[in-house]
Formats: sequence, structure tokens, C-alpha cells
Amino acid sequence: MSNIDKSKLPSHIAIIMDGNGRWAKNKGKARVFGHKNGVESVRQVTEGAAELGIQHLTLYAFSTENWNRPKAEVTALMTLLVTTISKETKTLNKNNIRLHAIGNLDNLPNLAKKELLSSIEKTSNNTGLNLILALSYSSKWEITQAMKTIANKVKNGELNPEEINEGTIQSNLCTAQFPDPELLIRTSGEHRISNFLLWQIAYSELYFTPTLWPDFRKADLEEAILSYQQRERRFGKTSEQLETPTNA
Ligand code: IPE
Ligand code: IPE
Ligand code: MG
Repeated sequence: MSNIDKSKLPSHIAIIMDGNGRWAKNKGKARVFGHKNGVESVRQVTEGAAELGIQHLTLYAFSTENWNRPKAEVTALMTLLVTTISKETKTLNKNNIRLHAIGNLDNLPNLAKKELLSSIEKTSNNTGLNLILALSYSSKWEITQAMKTIANKVKNGELNPEEINEGTIQSNLCTAQFPDPELLIRTSGEHRISNFLLWQIAYSELYFTPTLWPDFRKADLEEAILSYQQRERRFGKTSEQLETPTNA
């Protein structure tokens, strides 16, 4: 932690929390055991991010594609969501953390949606870390929604197609109010994006670790941030331009 440069922190970290099932299997347990243990990692990482002063943390908790898992696993995940949110809301408030959610929340079971919206409401005055849960989320779904909204504005004469720019698209995504993540972490050794924040990670630094999600701790988050801080973000420019801004 002492090695982290506090003046060069990413303002937004996004995490694909993967490997719960394999973690459980390695221990001879059912997949749900892995999901339950993954909750402790969520707690640790959220606390770690808040302590460091990170402003936004997005956690990929359930994808659109995850609806295709066995029904019992989906039900267990939704139950875990409800119990965790209702248990943790007090702690979120104590730590000044504001909860948000992105995704097709209408697809969530009623109780899960209700608990989620209630916690979002109860934490809405907090000014510290913004914790954004991606639930029933997929990037292609999100972009499709944005396209429909924009098309309707054009149809109603509120928007001229000539005026459509990157900002128009950005402002119609679920993440409109958040900056793009500077750092994207994926656990469990998989090297893929799995339909997560495709637009928003256009220039993110990617960090892959073999650590399975239920083993991921504050120290692992710090290691990812250290790796991020050692990179040169060039945004298409040359190294020399970054060293001497007069070359810009
Ligand atoms: C991530 O762990 C949690 C969710 C996708 C909900 P997995 O359940 O995908 O675990 P593996 O990839 O099967 O090990
Ligand atoms: C991605 O993990 C979704 C979440 C972490 C919620 P998956 O385990 O579902 O991803 P794939 O399908 O193996 O790529
Ligand atoms: Mg997985």
C-alpha cells in the first residue's frame, strides 16, 4: 500500500469477478459455496478502494448471459444478492459509500430489485466511493438500448442525425454519469471481456490475474493498481510527446 502513488490513482476501477465456481470445485464443494465466499472479496475490495480514495468501483456481478446458467444457481445468486445488500447497507452508509446499479434491472426478481433500489436510495446522499454493481448487464444490451433512445429522439425531431457524436452515445449509456474506467481487472486467468463495458474500456489498462475471485484481497487490488501506475498511457501519442509537452 505504501508504494502506491496517491496522486496517480485511477478514478474508476472495473472488475470482472470470475472464478467462484472453480474455487469451490477445487475444494470439492458446490459452485454456490464459491459465490458465497466471493462476497467476502467484494467486501474487502470495496473497503480497500474506499480507503485508498478511489472514486468509482464497478463490479460485474451478473451478466445477461448468466441467465442461461442452471436455474438453481441463478436462484442462489439472486438470493445471495438480496441477503448481502440488505445486510451491508448499514456498512455502506457507515463508510460513506454510495450504491448504484447498471443493467437490465427489470429482469431481476421483484425482491432483488426492491432491495437493490432501497439500498441505492438509502445511500444516495453518500459522497465517498461510488460502488456500481453491474447486474443483468451486458454491453451489447446497453449499447442497443442507447441506440433505441437516440433513434427515438431523431424520430421525434429532438435530434438531428448530423449532431450525433461520441458524447451523444456516451450520455445514453447506463454509465453516463461515470467516467470511463482507467483500469479493468479480471480474475481467474481468463483473458476475455465477456460483454462488459465495451464502449467504456476503449482506452482502459487491462490487468489479468490467475487469482480466483474468492481469494482476491486488498493486497491483490493494490498489486493491480501498482501495475497500472507503472504503465505509460499514450492515447495514440509517442512517448516523447508525453515527456515534453511542447512536442504535442
Ligand atoms: C463468477 O464466477 C461469478 C459469476 C459469473 C456470477 P463463476 O461462477 O463464473 O466461476 P467459474 O468461472 O465457473 O470458475
Ligand atoms: C463474466 O463471467 C460475468 C461476471 C463476472 C458476472 P463469466 O464466468 O460468466 O464469463 P464467461 O462466460 O466465462 O466468459
Ligand atoms: Mg466464470
